Amino acid sequence: MKTLRFQYFGEPADVLNLEETAIPVPGPGQIRVTVHACGLTPADWALCRGLFPGSLPRGIGLEVAGTVDAVGDGVTDVVPGDRVLGVPDYVGMPVAGASEFSVLSYWSAIPASLGYVAAASLPMAVETAYRSLDQLQVVAGTKLLVHGAGTTVGFAAVQIALLRGAQVFATAGATYADQLRAFGAQVTNYGEGMAERIKTLAGSSVDLALDTAPVNVSSSVFSSLPDLIQAVGNDPRRVLTIVDFAGAARLGTRTSFDADEGISIDDTGKPVVDAAAAERLARELRHTVLGEFARLAADGRFMIPVARTFPLKEWRAALEISLSGKARGKLILIPDRMS
Ligand SMILES: NC(=O)c1ccc[n+]([C@@H]2O[C@H](COP(=O)([O-])OP(=O)(O)OC[C@H]3O[C@@H](n4cnc5c(N)ncnc54)[C@H](OP(=O)(O)O)[C@@H]3O)[C@@H](O)[C@H]2O)c1
Repeated sequence: MKTLRFQYFGEPADVLNLEETAIPVPGPGQIRVTVHACGLTPADWALCRGLFPGSLPRGIGLEVAGTVDAVGDGVTDVVPGDRVLGVPDYVGMPVAGASEFSVLSYWSAIPASLGYVAAASLPMAVETAYRSLDQLQVVAGTKLLVHGAGTTVGFAAVQIALLRGAQVFATAGATYADQLRAFGAQVTNYGEGMAERIKTLAGSSVDLALDTAPVNVSSSVFSSLPDLIQAVGNDPRRVLTIVDFAGAARLGTRTSFDADEGISIDDTGKPVVDAAAAERLARELRHTVLGEFARLAADGRFMIPVARTFPLKEWRAALEISLSGKARGKLILIPDRMS
C-alpha cells in the first residue's frame, strides 16, 4: 500500500516521501481502517522536524475518516465495514493517516449523514480547542477572546465556547469572519490595535484569551501576546497560547504544556518533548469528545471548514499551502483509489 512518511527528521518537503509498504496490523485495542480522507495539520510538519522522539520511519496524518477493515484483540465496539473517524498512534508508528490503510488507537462512529471529508476535518481542531478551553476553565458567562479564529482550532474553539454558554469575542481575517459572527461571536480583524478593538467590542476587558494564531517562531518579536495580555486586563495568567511558546516564556502566559515535565522550549521557541512526555501527552488528549462533535456536525450544529481536498499523490501542493500559514480551512488528502 502507499503511505506518506519520513525516514529522517528534517524539513517536511525534504524528508517526506510517498512509499510502498506492507499493510499494517492492528495491535490489541486498535483497529485498521481503509482511509477515505485524512486531515493535514501543522503538527504533521512539527513531527517531521522531530517534535516527538521515537523510532523511524514515521507516518504523518493525524486525522482519519474511513471504514473499519480489521480489529485487534479486545475491540468489541466496531466491526469491519463500520464508518469511523479517529486518530492514529503518532508517537511511534511507521504508518499514520496519510496512507491507504491506517491503524487507529482512538475512534468514534461517523453518523450516517456526515461525509468522510467533514469527519476527517474534526479530530485535531476539536481535541485541541476542547482541551484548551478546559485548561482555561471556560464556562457559561465567561467573556472569552479567541485570537486567530480563522484557524481550524480557533474556529472550533469559538463554537465550543458558545456551546458552553460563553460570550465570545474573536479576531479573524476576512475568510471566516462573517461565519463566526453568524455563530454568535463578536469579531474584529487581527493586527495592530486589536487589544483596543476587542475592549471596545466587549465594553471592558475580557476574562480570558486563547491564542491560536500561527506564529513565525523565528520572529517572536511579532508576538500577539502583549495585545492579548492587554485585552484581559494585564494578567498574563489569563492568556493561554497553543502556539507562541517563546513569547509565553518571556511574558508569563500559560501554554498548552503548562507545568508538563519532560517538555522544554528551545532557542527558536519550539517545544522539545521527551519520550515519556510524548506518551503521556498522547494519553491525556481529549479524544473521547470526538463522537459528540461528530454527532453535532451531522446535525448541522458544528463544523470545520474544508479549504481543499487533494489526491494523496498531490501531497506536496497541500504541504505548500499549509506552510504558507494561509490554509483558510482544513486541507484533506484522499487516497488515490478513493478519489
Ligand atoms: N499546542 C497544541 O496542542 C496545538 C495543537 C494543534 C495546533 N496547534 C497550533 O495551532 C495553530 C493553529 O492550527 P490550525 O491547524 O488550526 O492552523 P491553520 O488552520 O492551518 O491556520 C491557518 C489560518 O491562520 C490564520 N492566520 C494566519 N496568520 C495569522 C495571524 N497573524 N493572526 C491570526 N490568524 C492568522 C489564517 O486565517 P485568516 O483567514 O483568519 O487570516 C489561516 O487560514 C498552528 O500554529 C498549530 O501548530 C497547537
